[in-house]
Amino acid sequence: MALAGSDAGANPAASTEKWSSRFAFIMAAVGSAVGLGNLWRFPAETGVNGGGAFVIFYIFCVVLIGLPVLLSETLIGRAGQSSAIESMKNVARKSGASPLWSLGAAVGMVGAFLILTFYSVIAGWVIYYAGVFINDVSSSLSSGNISGGAFAGMNADAIQDILPALHKNADMMIAMHALFMAITIFVVARGVHGGIEKVAVWLMPMFFLLFLGVTIYSLSTGDTSRALDFLFSFDAQRLLDPKVQLSALGQALFSLSLGSAMMITYGSYASRDTNLAKTSGMIATADTSVAIIAGLAIFPIVFAAGLSAEGGPTLLFATLPTAFQSMPFGSIIGLLFFVMVFFAALTSSVALLEASVSWAVTRFNANRAMLAVGFGLVAFVIGTWASFSFNSQSKLYLLNFGIFEEQNVFNFLDKLTGSVLLPVSALLVAIFVGWVADKQLVDEENGMSGAPHMIWRFLIAWLCPLVIGVILITGLFPQIVG
Ligand code: PFF
Repeated sequence: MALAGSDAGANPAASTEKWSSRFAFIMAAVGSAVGLGNLWRFPAETGVNGGGAFVIFYIFCVVLIGLPVLLSETLIGRAGQSSAIESMKNVARKSGASPLWSLGAAVGMVGAFLILTFYSVIAGWVIYYAGVFINDVSSSLSSGNISGGAFAGMNADAIQDILPALHKNADMMIAMHALFMAITIFVVARGVHGGIEKVAVWLMPMFFLLFLGVTIYSLSTGDTSRALDFLFSFDAQRLLDPKVQLSALGQALFSLSLGSAMMITYGSYASRDTNLAKTSGMIATADTSVAIIAGLAIFPIVFAAGLSAEGGPTLLFATLPTAFQSMPFGSIIGLLFFVMVFFAALTSSVALLEASVSWAVTRFNANRAMLAVGFGLVAFVIGTWASFSFNSQSKLYLLNFGIFEEQNVFNFLDKLTGSVLLPVSALLVAIFVGWVADKQLVDEENGMSGAPHMIWRFLIAWLCPLVIGVILITGLFPQIVG
């Protein structure tokens, strides 16, 4: 049952592209994982879900669910040697199972595509804020006050108003969303080598450098002890709240780019000598560290400025700039901060678009650049619709129950992907690798032996399906647990 790397060549849907090195694979995969999910969504979700309880459950989900699923997804990709759906079909065929199992990747691919729609809207805000800080740096330079805080002379309300003003300015918001989507399309159109890999190899090291700088700055100027307390002390009652649990599971999957066909796609570009277990461990460690450190960097600034942690999706945008006002070198730090977020967002959005583009390239043997433009344009239009959510009271009554009750389009897409599509895809992947795929084939790919191997087998076959299944049901239908 062994799948030799070369027999993929006989398959018309085989992928021909490969990362040029293990470093490139790690940077691209970490680049996909680290993004707005860590810097914008994690602090926002932590804030609205009560801090510590959410964080503890999130870490539990990363270690016991995220990591085993991450390894499973990359190994399906490498064993299947094609786009996500085709890879899963290939592995199913080789295991004598129904190709319908590729539904797992199909659900993920739709999820990734829908995430891209609103991801680009938020990344558009990031570009806008970088512009605001460029202006601010230049005015502080001309007034000779660069060592002071940002937005000199502006009152706090006016700073808080930057975001609502952007929301009212639909043309500007759509233009920024268009700009970000255009950059994403450009990178994906250039292919795995010429685009995705180049961007990751250059931007991710720069991201880590900036991240380190901003974190040291924040810890030395902000209210760290309150942030630590908020992130790690918890109320046991909330730990048992199914909605908190579902949000934490969704966040773990979202942050590691799991359940979205994406890690299968990137795994298929990995060479045979890459140890997938080790690489998965590195990706998960890097991603989780960035999320926790981002919390440690953001909350001290927020608390030091006496602001609330419960800003939700606007936390990063409305709260932080206010905080930069009272910080030394506030305009420069603000600019560096948003440039850093932009880098992280771009390496993730290219992965989101790549999941569907690579599928269509292999499935229809079509031109990559045209597909990137086509998918990107559709995502842009849906994203534009979602972006109106911020300036109107309109709600979507499509699925009007539980977590979906009276949500606007933006929140609806966020919840549909994070709390339904990604967990469902991850659940199917876990059952597939744990029970359906040929054991020998799986074991040849995973690069593990001994106790770690047995633990992984147990987690993927038993714990992951059980926990994801239970959390999905109780989170979506909380009335079941009363
Ligand atoms: N992991 C990314 C983040 O945390 O921002 C978001 C993401 C990228 C999710 C790619 C899914 C994906 F396929």
